[in-house]
Amino acid sequence: MRYNSHREPQRYRPVSSPAPARRVLSGMRPTGRLHLGNFHGALRNWVELQYQYDCFFFVADWHMLTTGYEDTSQLQQNIHEVLIDWLAAGLNPGVATLFIQSHVPEHAELHLLMSMITPLGWLERVPSYKDQQEQLKEKDLATYGFLGYPLLQSADILVYRAAFVPVGEDQVAHVELTREAARRFNHLYGRESDFEAKAERAVKSLGGRNATNYRQLRRRYQETGDTEALQRAQALVQANNRITVADRERLLGFLEGTGVTILPEPQVLLTAAPKVPGLDGRKMSKSYGNTIGLREDPDVVVQKLRAMKTDPARVRRTDPGDPEKCPVWDLHKIYSDEATRKWVNEGCRSAGIGCLDCKQPLIERIVEEVNGMRKRAQEFEDNPELVRGIVAEGADKARDAARQTLDDVRRAMHLRAD
Ligand code: TRP
Ligand code: SF4
Repeated sequence: MRYNSHREPQRYRPVSSPAPARRVLSGMRPTGRLHLGNFHGALRNWVELQYQYDCFFFVADWHMLTTGYEDTSQLQQNIHEVLIDWLAAGLNPGVATLFIQSHVPEHAELHLLMSMITPLGWLERVPSYKDQQEQLKEKDLATYGFLGYPLLQSADILVYRAAFVPVGEDQVAHVELTREAARRFNHLYGRESDFEAKAERAVKSLGGRNATNYRQLRRRYQETGDTEALQRAQALVQANNRITVADRERLLGFLEGTGVTILPEPQVLLTAAPKVPGLDGRKMSKSYGNTIGLREDPDVVVQKLRAMKTDPARVRRTDPGDPEKCPVWDLHKIYSDEATRKWVNEGCRSAGIGCLDCKQPLIERIVEEVNGMRKRAQEFEDNPELVRGIVAEGADKARDAARQTLDDVRRAMHLRAD
């Protein structure tokens, strides 16, 4: 394969790539074809973010192995399906970087290095560790890989020095672990021997007035602990786009009297996901078998929605119901405009409309949405090599970014001589 992380005997250049201050990173496991729950829960948000940030999105195939190591026979197929769903949903490889985790082995190298400095207790305390072991009782999850999975996620994020990580509530603890791991790494290895001198030089390179402001704010923060001064100085450094990344990190580290920030701490971009009900009224989830696929056959979509559960109080057409007790109502909240929702609310409570009437506008909207997805997916279904090309290019871009980080990490840990 093409991936060879140590291809050119690269000499270290003082990093001068643009600061990834607005870089976003997120990943998704290749669970097979995606459904409307995945779309509204994450994907729709990614599609918007790609136009606002420098986005890196990857298929987390190694993560899949942490729970699904026994049977990997469907892995390639599932990766392919997820990628087509991403493209069908509107992820645009012209603006976002789309790739497959295992094509960028730097994730694994950083994971290994981070594993050296991560206390076991941090991993044992991640809430999903015990939860998932209990939930997936049929699998033996007492493995090294499963325990380390949140740290692999940390490496995924830190290797791109991502500023923001769009995830749902269930992943917040993992981003928190990432922040702690980054802090520990910087604390241990972010000390250049001639840090002070380099930092002083970086201050000068800010230029006359900015340098003076920086010095004053730094002194104020260090002498009085004035956090507003700290924030103003940080903003001053962030806003300066003439300095190198290395100098920026030095200046930020110098403010707090630490060292260089080699791995910046990422922030969660919490995805406000609507509740997407499945056909049986429980949360839409592949494991419940209650889903509507993103590229589902429109006739099947119609059948499924017509059979979808409603408020059980409406046994006969003449029985009034309560939308708050009906999963179909949750779909109206996502898909219907104000007027339609008003019509549903009144018609349901007065038994003025039947459940099939109520579902009709939803069926139309969802069929339209699914048809759009199917149309966009078509060319990729017909030409799998298009998809391969997209992720090959994505992996190249991702590897470039990851390699720079690993360069700095190896140097900071004295794993290289220069
Ligand atoms: N752990 C995430 C999940 O199971 C997927 C994931 C892997 C991820 N690496 C990531 C998400 C990095 C955000 C950032 O859904
Ligand atoms: Fe649900 Fe609509 Fe039937 Fe009311 S009329 S129970 S909201 S499907």
